[in-house]
Amino acid sequence: MNFDELLQVKVELKEKSYPIFIGSDFLMRIGELIEPYVRSRKLFIITDDLVSMLYLPMVEESLRKAQYDVYSLTVPQGESSKSLEQADELLENILKIGCDRQCAIISLGGGVVGDLAGFCASVLLRGVDFIQIPTTLLSQTDSSVGGKTAVNTTIGKNLIGTFHQPKAVFIDVHTLKTLDSQQVLAGFAEVAKYGLALNADFWNWLVDNGEQVIGLEETACISAVEQCCVIKSAVVAGDELEQTGLRSLLNYGHTIGHAIEAGAGMRGTILHGEAVAIGSVLATWLSAELNLCDQEIPVQITEQYKKWGLPVQYEYLKTPDLLSSMKKDKKVKGGHLNFVLLEKIGHSVLVEDIDPADVEKVLDEKGRKKHEFSYYG
Ligand SMILES: NC(=O)c1ccc[n+]([C@@H]2O[C@H](COP(=O)([O-])OP(=O)(O)OC[C@H]3O[C@@H](n4cnc5c(N)ncnc54)[C@H](O)[C@@H]3O)[C@@H](O)[C@H]2O)c1
Repeated sequence: MNFDELLQVKVELKEKSYPIFIGSDFLMRIGELIEPYVRSRKLFIITDDLVSMLYLPMVEESLRKAQYDVYSLTVPQGESSKSLEQADELLENILKIGCDRQCAIISLGGGVVGDLAGFCASVLLRGVDFIQIPTTLLSQTDSSVGGKTAVNTTIGKNLIGTFHQPKAVFIDVHTLKTLDSQQVLAGFAEVAKYGLALNADFWNWLVDNGEQVIGLEETACISAVEQCCVIKSAVVAGDELEQTGLRSLLNYGHTIGHAIEAGAGMRGTILHGEAVAIGSVLATWLSAELNLCDQEIPVQITEQYKKWGLPVQYEYLKTPDLLSSMKKDKKVKGGHLNFVLLEKIGHSVLVEDIDPADVEKVLDEKGRKKHEFSYYG
């Protein structure tokens, strides 16, 4: 693939604006592409131990061929690496190797290393350049764009973090081919979220093309990634620091989703995207419960999510535990539950002060999978 064949989406943030390059099978030429976006020959790659086996040699070779000094740091794969302890270890290692304010940190991997590496880049020497090379569907369509960095705490997910925009994002959809199908579906939940909560045209496109995206058909993936990046960058450009409420619309499904994730344990019994899928469906039921949207919509959405193979209910979790977890959500102000809810497909709004009894009803009736027991006594 030639560079001029790469699609480009611009995130417009005045002096912090940056390009997102989208294409397939171009990582072996990243060394040539990256040049306008870094100021130093010294680059630190942060990746995880699975992605490092798959793509690190290719990326290192390309960067070295382009005369960069490359230092790679690998963390264990999985959500538990998104911790202050892990960030501390990485930062100490980078400082021991030696760096200055011109150096850049590159994240190579999914949302976990993206959030972690971005956090390190934002605090190292009060901020160094950051480049994202996302390799999961979730990170290519969501977490690599918009500059949110984070680590987790025992109190909840993503509660420590910064805003630190990357200098450029390089999305090679060819890397999705090695992703297992559960991870693809989990990423697709965030893709569906853009259509459901923000853009009816994209929702309609997904109804027609979603299966091809899930099947990793190249053209469909490039198109889905591009549309998600266009939608997300417009939202980020309108509300970079999540101050006007616009950016919070990207969190559709996340209030319940984060509670499900916390309940299931942060160590991975449920993937972030799977929890977001269930949270999105339940937020839609809650919207209908509050008469914000047509009663038919949650039925239609549940059917479509099932057709895609996305989860729509959870097992074993208890409503009081989920509710108490939701009260720790970042959108909670003054103890009131705030939710992003749906008015119609493609249009969501932030609604403040939701009565916990309504949430409880939806969780009890629609959230938990009911098992049918048969007794042959
Ligand atoms: N910053 C944001 O705006 C934002 C937005 C959404 C989600 N997130 C965060 O993103 C994280 C989830 O990201 P994720 O779903 O990418 O998880 P992840 O980074 O844990 O990646 C999932 C798994 O896929 C593996 N992997 C990565 N790329 C691969 C490839 N090409 N082939 C094979 N395996 C590959 C990883 O090693 C890992 O085991 C969560 O921590 C979430 O909070 C952040």
